[in-house]
Amino acid sequence: MTTPFAARRERLLSSIGPRTAAVFVATPTAIRNNDVEHDFRQDSDVFYLTGFDEPDTVVVVAPQATLKDAEGKSSSARFTMFVRPKDPEREIWDGFRHGVDGAKKDFGADAAFNIEELSRRLPELLAGHDAVVYRWGNKAFDDRLFAAINMARRTSGRNGMAAPTRIIDPVEVLYEHRLRKSRDELDSMRRACAITAEAHKRAMQIAKPGTYEFELEAVLLETFRKHGSERPAYGSIVGSGPNATVLHYRRNDRKLEDGDLVLIDAGCEYGYYASDVTRTFPASGKFTDTQRAVYEAVLQAQMACIDMVKPGVTQGDLHNKAVEVLTKKLLDLGILTGDAEELVKKEAYKPFYMHKTGHWLGMDVHDVGAYFVPGPGGEGKMGHRPLEPGMVITIEPGLYFGIGAESAPERFRGIGVRIEDDILVTDNGHENLTSAIPKTIEEVERACRA
Ligand code: GLY
Ligand code: MN
Ligand code: MN
Repeated sequence: MTTPFAARRERLLSSIGPRTAAVFVATPTAIRNNDVEHDFRQDSDVFYLTGFDEPDTVVVVAPQATLKDAEGKSSSARFTMFVRPKDPEREIWDGFRHGVDGAKKDFGADAAFNIEELSRRLPELLAGHDAVVYRWGNKAFDDRLFAAINMARRTSGRNGMAAPTRIIDPVEVLYEHRLRKSRDELDSMRRACAITAEAHKRAMQIAKPGTYEFELEAVLLETFRKHGSERPAYGSIVGSGPNATVLHYRRNDRKLEDGDLVLIDAGCEYGYYASDVTRTFPASGKFTDTQRAVYEAVLQAQMACIDMVKPGVTQGDLHNKAVEVLTKKLLDLGILTGDAEELVKKEAYKPFYMHKTGHWLGMDVHDVGAYFVPGPGGEGKMGHRPLEPGMVITIEPGLYFGIGAESAPERFRGIGVRIEDDILVTDNGHENLTSAIPKTIEEVERACRA
């Protein structure tokens, strides 16, 4: 049976062609302190292509590669894995390892080696290829890859084989694949979104003046794990009162007060796929008039953007729509004065809306894939990429009035609102994967009272 992982490798092979190899490396393990490591999460590319979740792994896809066995017999090694070997002593402490044989038997590798053999074997695998697909930036591994290419060059020069002269970023090949989600991938994303919906609803239910932000964070985490999510897709943001205006707030240690808004930006990861959702609600269960006005402004911008999503529309178009609606609302609220179009041109909204309206979503919360493509802006120019069916984006406008935002009337200061949903582009429009989470004023107030 072909696994989705094998199908992805075949697809990669057919898009890179017979003269290009590709190398993917597990996330490096990192010490937290002393002998304690940070939790390991496999690199998304490695997992996408193999389903293998152990550290110290290198995956080589190399259409030209052949390896000789002990008797000198050659066999194809189009897909080679370097992995941690079996180690009964270490497995007592850290748990099961698939080992070299498991990599072949259970993960379909043509060849597999102890990771310790990488430096010796990699030049041999890369020989015969003109280019290598590799995401540079992992300093320790960059050096090892360049050393292997140099070695391949030295030896292949002598026996008439090509050696790589170019590095190609995966954004040109693999990330085009990751950008468009298959049915299997969407199943995982839907599950991630359903669990996240449950978590946000529970947080709204239990929040009240006197609750600590970390209690809400704990409820989110409990809901994620209870339903089989491996982990949050990113650090949960639970910001009450003025903390809601801090975009990457992470302390989550304040006590909710009567009259606060609470902004929760949290989503779980399920089967290596992320969800990314923000809701903002009143701690007491009822919006004040000012909070309601700001919330309605953000909600209208968000819904106007979601309504627009269909193939052909760009994330640039969506951001422009968000900015247009928010600017009009800032005028209505008396926070800005002047001509709406001029204000948009001057980016007068920026002190209160300083981030983009969305991003790709997938295995990574800020998922891979090019945002700009050549063409739309004219010859030689890059333009915003038109959306296509199977792509998933977030739509997450907000308005933030910090406590020191002197350009806003005082009644707005300390208010932060963001509303974020996960949107799948379909053949004719879109599907909101997180529509089950209360969002209108009435729904939110009802959920807080539930
Ligand atoms: N939670 C990260 C983001 O919304 O982009
Ligand atoms: Mn978010
Ligand atoms: Mn987001």
